[in-house]
Amino acid sequence: MALRRVLRIDNEEDKKVLKMPSRPVKLPDRELKRLIADMFETMHEANGVGLAAPQLGINIQLCVIGIPADLEEQEDGSVVEVAPAEEYVLINPKIVKTSGDEVMRQEGCLSLPGWYGDVPRHSWVTVEYQELNGKLRRLRKADGLLGWAIQHEVDHLHGVLFTELIRDLSTLRDLSKEDVETVETP
Ligand code: NI
Repeated sequence: MALRRVLRIDNEEDKKVLKMPSRPVKLPDRELKRLIADMFETMHEANGVGLAAPQLGINIQLCVIGIPADLEEQEDGSVVEVAPAEEYVLINPKIVKTSGDEVMRQEGCLSLPGWYGDVPRHSWVTVEYQELNGKLRRLRKADGLLGWAIQHEVDHLHGVLFTELIRDLSTLRDLSKEDVETVETP
C-alpha cells in the first residue's frame, strides 16, 4: 500500500482534473485492488470518511467510504463500541432515489483541507453500485454521515465540488485556524 497525493481545489492544475467527469469502470480490473487499498490508506491518514479516485488524479467512477466506529463512554469511564466501523467500496455508483428534502450541513473535503461550508444535502439516498467482483449492490436509504458521504463522493465522480454547492459563501471558513472540534471530512 502507498499514500498518494490528494489533488487540491485551490490548485489550478489539480482543479482541472477534479472538474472532469469520470468514466465508468469496466470490471473485472486487476489493477483496482491496489488502488482501493491506497485510497483507504490515504483517506485514513488524512482522517477523512471518504475519497474519490479523481481526487488522486484518476478519473474513474470509484470511491471509498469509511465511517468510524461509534464509541460511547460508560459511567465507569470505559468505552464501548455501540456500532462497528463501516467500509464501502463503490464502483460505478448511481444515486437512484433520494429523500427529496434538503438538510444543511457543515461539510469539508480532503481536497480543501481545513475548510468547511454549509452544503444542502438530501437526508437519505439509495445508491446502486458494483462490487469489485462485478456484483450489483444496492444500499437503501443511507442516511447520516454515510448518506452525506455518498452524496459528496458521487459528486466528485461528476466533477462537482462541495464549494460549488455552497449558497452562502460566508459560511465557507478555514476552521483549521479556529479552536473548534474537528468535523468529519469526506
Ligand atoms: Ni471531497
